[in-house]
Amino acid sequence: MSVKGIKGLMLILGGLLLSATTVWASDAPAESGRPPMNHVPSANCGECHQEIFQQWQNSMHAKSTALTDPIHGAVYRMEAGDPSHEGVTHKATNTFPACLQCHAPIAARDKTTKLDAKPMYAEGVNCVACHTMTAFKGIQGKNGKLRLGAAAYDYSPNKLQGPEGAFNGTQPVPAPGGGKEPQVNSFPHQANAALFKSSDVCLGCHQTMVNPQKVAVCTIGDHLIGKEGNPAPTCQSCHMPVINGFSSHEIFGGHNPTQIRKAVALSLTSKAHRSRLHTVITLKNTLLHTLPNGAPFRNMVLKITARNDKDEVIWSNFKEDADKEDPQSLLILKLVNNEGHPVMPPQATKMGNDTRLKPGEKRILTYAIPAAGVKSVRAELYYNLITKPMAEQMGDKLPEELKKPALVGQAEVTL
Ligand code: HEC
Ligand code: HEC
Ligand code: HEC
Ligand code: HEC
Ligand code: HEC
Repeated sequence: MSVKGIKGLMLILGGLLLSATTVWASDAPAESGRPPMNHVPSANCGECHQEIFQQWQNSMHAKSTALTDPIHGAVYRMEAGDPSHEGVTHKATNTFPACLQCHAPIAARDKTTKLDAKPMYAEGVNCVACHTMTAFKGIQGKNGKLRLGAAAYDYSPNKLQGPEGAFNGTQPVPAPGGGKEPQVNSFPHQANAALFKSSDVCLGCHQTMVNPQKVAVCTIGDHLIGKEGNPAPTCQSCHMPVINGFSSHEIFGGHNPTQIRKAVALSLTSKAHRSRLHTVITLKNTLLHTLPNGAPFRNMVLKITARNDKDEVIWSNFKEDADKEDPQSLLILKLVNNEGHPVMPPQATKMGNDTRLKPGEKRILTYAIPAAGVKSVRAELYYNLITKPMAEQMGDKLPEELKKPALVGQAEVTL
């Protein structure tokens, strides 16, 4: 089949998809003949915004619910219950699971916990979860209560919100992404740069997250700083770079090691001094937020090895457990119980040690390595989505690749 033929077929398939997905029209308020804007599944938006749709599908936003994210899913089942059941409550507080405000925002807005009931619930942080937001109310509610995730915003029931809103939904305009056929977007748009060009569009879900003991287990927004007294850059400036003419919706983070590689610079020197190799490792956080960042169980481990002329390891900074054998090599925010023992975020009653790199921090670690027989010294920096005890506790509930450390930095000297 020619390329043109394939394209034609894809358009027909697209049309079939449209008729299959327009079933949602039956949920519509009768007078308008269409559903409220927050019930439009992302596949509908993707019929025109194909590239953005694919980027979003690859992002963790599209996999944020307990049905699709194995790590969140395991913790949600422990703390709340089965994501395919109605009437699930958060066990510790016996209230509607706040998790859904951020991880399944459309379901939270509809006050349902049965996430497989409609595509837009299972889609998690989908197109309309963001593009119907009109204003950020802030996360501080009345009486000291937090308004988290979806609850932190006002919404439009019938107008999509976007950075420019140049399009009013009546006249044909060039296809998104520079395609040739003009298209009419049947959804009305509204310009809302005040929200969409500011970090506010992210902060409802990303500023802070507290556990039942009111310990702030995840605080990204608060850690972001501006350079030399300047205002902090927006989240979008790093996480949504303009690629092929529009803002990327891949929005990578910890699930993508290439993103982490950009965030840290690692260097190594090693000089003989009597019988020892005086070894200096420099770690530089190039970010304006903490590294590692986000979920408290994210951590990084620095592994240092000295090798002989056969490249066999004859010395290393730790064998099994970085935390016990060489605490300075573990970068993590520890959440602990009253006795000071590390626990899972939901059980934490206070913050323990925080050995993560501060925004822009340059940290120097030194080691005195026995010099005999050493031909090379190597430093390797690994990133872990979850801690070792968590990986053991979750066992085979998690796919191996989520438990495997990712190499995000490497340096070596030959003597
Ligand atoms: C029938 C085709 C079509 C469909 C379906 C469609 N759009 Fe659009 N959309 C367009 C066109 C055309 C534009 C204007 C050109 C551009 O900005 O690339 C546009 C522009 C936008 C913009 C930019 C507006 C701004 O303020 O800059 C956003 C955001 C957007 N669409 C979101 C969505 C979402 C979310 C959905 C699903 C609910 C959707 N669109 C469905 C065709 C479509
Ligand atoms: C996490 C929130 C979020 C989600 C989810 C999201 N968007 Fe966006 N979108 C944004 C923000 C923020 C911008 C503005 C970025 C900027 O201008 O810096 C934007 C911009 C756009 C634009 C304008 C193009 C441009 O270059 O700015 C379109 C079109 C769009 N989004 C469509 C979609 C579609 C379609 C989906 C679902 C497949 C989607 N968005 C999902 C937050 C989101
Ligand atoms: C409605 C809530 C919500 C909004 C709004 C939102 N996010 Fe998220 N975001 C989430 C959730 C939930 C996750 C975690 C998904 C998971 O791992 O289960 C996430 C994950 C991420 C990640 C980590 C991805 C990875 O690879 O692990 C990044 C980065 C991110 N969001 C950036 C942004 C940015 C930038 C914005 C604003 C443009 C934004 N988010 C808006 C809820 C939201
Ligand atoms: C200067 C560029 C930059 C800015 C600005 C920025 N980020 Fe990041 N962010 C990164 C990089 C690089 C990473 C990957 C390294 C890491 O995980 O710390 C990251 C990681 C993340 C993660 C994933 C952490 C994880 O555990 O997977 C989230 C979530 C996130 N950022 C959200 C935000 C939000 C929300 C804002 C705005 C308040 C923001 N970022 C501003 C560059 C930036
Ligand atoms: C205020 C918004 C918010 C609330 C409420 C929330 N989360 Fe999250 N959650 C996030 C964001 C944002 C991320 C991504 C942070 C990152 O990548 O570092 C995340 C990530 C996670 C992760 C890691 C997922 C992964 O793929 O590594 C788990 C597990 C998790 N949340 C569990 C929960 C549970 C269980 C609840 C309810 C008790 C909950 N969260 C409530 C915003 C929230």
